[in-house]
Amino acid sequence: MSEKITQLKNKFVEIYGGSTNDLRVFASPGRVNLIGEHIDYCGGYVFPAALTLDSTVIARPRKDRNIRLAATDLPDRVTASLDNLEEGKSLRWGNYQLGVADELQKAGYKLTGVDMLFHDMVPLGSGLSSSAAIELATAVTLATLGNEAHGITKPLDMVELAVIGQRTEHNYCGVNCGIMDQFASAMGKKDHAILLDCGSLKYKYTPLKLNGYKIVLGNTKKKRGLGESKYNERVQEVGEGLRILKQFLPEKVHLCDVTIKEFEQYKDKIENEVIRRRVQHVVYENVRVLESFDALENGDLIKFGNLLKEAHASIRDLYEVTGFELDTMVEEAAKVEGVIGARMTGAGFGGCTVNIVREDKVETFIRQVGENYRAKTGITPEFYVSEIGDGARELK
Ligand code: GLA
Repeated sequence: MSEKITQLKNKFVEIYGGSTNDLRVFASPGRVNLIGEHIDYCGGYVFPAALTLDSTVIARPRKDRNIRLAATDLPDRVTASLDNLEEGKSLRWGNYQLGVADELQKAGYKLTGVDMLFHDMVPLGSGLSSSAAIELATAVTLATLGNEAHGITKPLDMVELAVIGQRTEHNYCGVNCGIMDQFASAMGKKDHAILLDCGSLKYKYTPLKLNGYKIVLGNTKKKRGLGESKYNERVQEVGEGLRILKQFLPEKVHLCDVTIKEFEQYKDKIENEVIRRRVQHVVYENVRVLESFDALENGDLIKFGNLLKEAHASIRDLYEVTGFELDTMVEEAAKVEGVIGARMTGAGFGGCTVNIVREDKVETFIRQVGENYRAKTGITPEFYVSEIGDGARELK
């Protein structure tokens, strides 16, 4: 066990008492989405990969039905009963965890009381899915310990746990998100990206072969502000787009079932120009994801990079979820030699960019983009050279 885990275990004992001998350790990562933005809730393809930045949980099962929560970076302490979890909805911190417990039980999981200490390495509100990391770390902890306490030996269904995480966002956090973040956090695989069809939940892994290039994440440090309500507004807008197109294409279940040809044929039926642009982004972005997958499989990194650039322009101009900070960071990235693609990643309205940077230019990239971004926005950004890691798991 690493030194960090030993420290966390000692911290757990400081808070909850007992010894470190019976402690269990679980972790679940944040993610970067390479391409396929704001289309998971339209049944589209997305292309995320799990990061090596985790939400880690030190846990010890209890004999009763209480859940106790603590975190290394917050003073908050929460105690709740598994028989009265709805109360958790109003918590400033702890609502994700109690929401996951509630949704697990509603899905038929048998749980047991647990003491938990959270240590979050995914920067909060950065568009790297810190919330999905917490949800899946909680889900894998509670489901594993609950099954053990009840003598259930079947392996965990990680896709089901991802869906439970998504339900928690809907019912406990008020975000009508798609499945991408929870799926990536649950199902991530070291050095692989996941091509996920969000309509069917069929997926395949592909090795992230970026010969000579690195994925660099640029954190704009712009707080998301009204992100949640704008997010739900977009979900509603594309729902309206689907409703209109279904009058002409009744067999379509999801907006991403609409092809480019069909969109071009029927787009004038969408009278509201804003909704038409939202739908245009969704339909074209879905195709870009498949093209990106092929480009990576064929080792055509230049094509892959160009698709990322197109995706940014689309999410900026048609979907309008970027903003000055994200756009500035992407523009500055494009000026650096050795950068073959850059775009925002995640929900937008702040958060991170993903950049494909030639290895020998990474330092220059961080310095130059950092300086120029700071000069234009007054904000000091952060950069992470990202490694691709595994999904939710117990650390043994
Ligand atoms: C957030 C949501 C995801 C997805 C992205 C945008 O991360 O949680 O479901 O919609 O935004 O692609």
